[in-house]
Amino acid sequence: MSFNYLNHEQIDLEPLKALICSSVAPDNVAFAEAISSQVVIYSADKLRAQIQQERSNLRKIQSEWHWVWQDGPGVLVIKGAFDQALVDEASEAFREIIERERGISRGDHFAKPGANDRVWNAQEKLALLAPNLYARYYANDMLAWACEAWMGPAYQITSQVNSVNPGGEAQVPHRDYHLGFMTPEQASQYPVSVHRLSAHLTLQSAIAHVDMPVESGPTLLLPHSQKFSHGYLLANTPEAHEIFAQHRVQLPLEKGDLLLFSPALLHAAGSNVSRDIKRMANLLQISSAFGRAMETVDRLAMSGLVYPELLKLKQAGALSSQQIAHAVAATAEGYAFPTNLDRDPPIGGLAPKNQQALMLAALEQGWSAEKFSEELDAHAERRRTN
Ligand SMILES: [Fe+2]
Repeated sequence: MSFNYLNHEQIDLEPLKALICSSVAPDNVAFAEAISSQVVIYSADKLRAQIQQERSNLRKIQSEWHWVWQDGPGVLVIKGAFDQALVDEASEAFREIIERERGISRGDHFAKPGANDRVWNAQEKLALLAPNLYARYYANDMLAWACEAWMGPAYQITSQVNSVNPGGEAQVPHRDYHLGFMTPEQASQYPVSVHRLSAHLTLQSAIAHVDMPVESGPTLLLPHSQKFSHGYLLANTPEAHEIFAQHRVQLPLEKGDLLLFSPALLHAAGSNVSRDIKRMANLLQISSAFGRAMETVDRLAMSGLVYPELLKLKQAGALSSQQIAHAVAATAEGYAFPTNLDRDPPIGGLAPKNQQALMLAALEQGWSAEKFSEELDAHAERRRTN
């Protein structure tokens, strides 16, 4: 019988060294454009054309992405995933939020004051400030398909904007939420199966809001490191930081590119040594329906505000039904539980109706904003216990 706990005081780094010497066989990534420094690169235009041509390619592409995150190098980039003009529009809105919040004292977990501008819960703030723009931005196909590829439906998006100013320093290498946000002592209290599970509960992602040449400090990545068994316990291991410094890779990104990586991949934001590039990215952390997201998001308020805009965009033919579904998936709660089963019983199935299903039905039947709002409130009321 194997011992099911990991020792955080004695870590053998040899397996990590072996892992980071591995290299991806091109046969494993048939839909990719290139493999650059072990990062798998895709072209959004090409993927869209391949899916349009043959719908079954979508599942094949999703399966390939899943392989990249789990068994491959752990990181991929989809070039041109977002329309650049739309990204600019969203950047303007984010800058407006940054200006509005300036002066309010807040902390950042990795940066010194003034080195960056951070918008926590940027998803809800964008939905509240500019619901029409929000709907068009989150109608994105590549993002929705990637989330689904890692965690299946009913995923929960949260977003934080980070704009790193020239002079902003690199982060220390780390893994991300859940266990990545614990000390090695805390993480070592979880059995080894939870170390493996943690990587499957979230997906890390960044949408480049500006062109990011290497001097502006795009994310430093250690491909293949997500497969190291003791990766959540390395915070106090200087030799591991040394390995990271020697072997990490860094890829320039263009505005609209989508970077997606396993939360178990060792990574760190780079130093911005450019003269004048404010490196703005929308950092998305996508959570499984089965996990707790890091941020509180008021999906009831967002759904109420975004619904009339989605209806307009649908009626004007500006968004396809597929794009509408992606925006709904980003906005409303897609999982039925937890709920109050006294008041919200699972009639006609195993689970009561969830917020996403309600929103999709409303859009399908063209409910007025008032009717949707009433039904949404009634739905929320049924789930309460008091
Ligand atoms: Fe991180």
